[in-house]
Amino acid sequence: MKNYKKESFLHLPTPLEYLPTLSKELGIPFYIKRDDLTNLGGGGNKLRKLEYFLYDAKKKGATALITVGGAQTNHGRLTAAVAAKYGMRCTIVAIDEYPGEVSANILLDRIMGANLVLHKDDGTPLMDLVDAVTKKYEEDGEVPYFIPMGGSNELGALGYYDCAKELQEQTKDGHVIVAVGSMGTYMGLFCGLYKSSVKLTGILIGPFFEDVKSYALDYFNRCKVSWGLDFSVDYGDFDIRTEFTRGGYNNPVKEVREAVYEIARKEAVLLDPCYTGKAYAAIRDMVASGEIKQGEKIIFLHTGGLPGINTPSHRREMEEELLAGITIE
Ligand SMILES: Cc1ncc(COP(=O)(O)O)c(C=O)c1O
Repeated sequence: MKNYKKESFLHLPTPLEYLPTLSKELGIPFYIKRDDLTNLGGGGNKLRKLEYFLYDAKKKGATALITVGGAQTNHGRLTAAVAAKYGMRCTIVAIDEYPGEVSANILLDRIMGANLVLHKDDGTPLMDLVDAVTKKYEEDGEVPYFIPMGGSNELGALGYYDCAKELQEQTKDGHVIVAVGSMGTYMGLFCGLYKSSVKLTGILIGPFFEDVKSYALDYFNRCKVSWGLDFSVDYGDFDIRTEFTRGGYNNPVKEVREAVYEIARKEAVLLDPCYTGKAYAAIRDMVASGEIKQGEKIIFLHTGGLPGINTPSHRREMEEELLAGITIE
């Protein structure tokens, strides 16, 4: 494994916590790894990836960060956070609709000083918009640095390779379950946990890939070459579950909200309705179906994303369900 450098701005390790009430109710030793508690801009999984991107960006003399995602990208918010902390400019480019209000991640992006370029999906390639932002920065005398969607390339995945090593200092066994979006988090963990006694399952939260395992194999092989890994894997080695997308990416889903309410009311852990809520709802389903066996030690990786709770489409559904408990006297 080659030795990559990062800019270490996180207070690590993140805690691995036991959840006693849900452990009892679900009949499993249930743990949560708190990557939501990482320390910049509201926290979340993307910060571990950004430690590597920031080092590379600084090495290249960058003065501005550009990234892409949906309008409510958590990765965009955390890129904005890192840019703010290190005195850089930041633009997030999204082919997405303006949701009608400045709230959730968009509000936090702007609070931290990042700009957003929102462009309706009219067939314009995303990279054309990125090129325009790059050109504008260059005209202003800035040195822009581009970070791909979700920070999920070979460099970004190193952040979760590190997390896998960190986790193995905290536990010798268990079954890690994590939400999968652009896959960098899963891939870093996969490589770092390979052949260890800690098992890994990813829960895909939207229908992003035609064949998720071939995408994973290709991503793995890119990491293998780039990092100099000394092992090979097969298509069948990936455990990424595609049956819990619940009808789409970032769609409001009742069972997900119920899962969000449950863990909040029993363990005071706050999840988001797009990623971590879907992953936890999947854990509940896997326990109910017997796929997760009674007594099996589960480690749920909390990847952050809480600002998503204020995305108008999610918040409206929750307001309707929760209004009943408010008495106005
Ligand atoms: C809160 C949250 N959890 C999980 C993920 C998935 O991580 P990855 O894109 O590395 O698969 C994301 C990605 O956007 C996220 O924002």
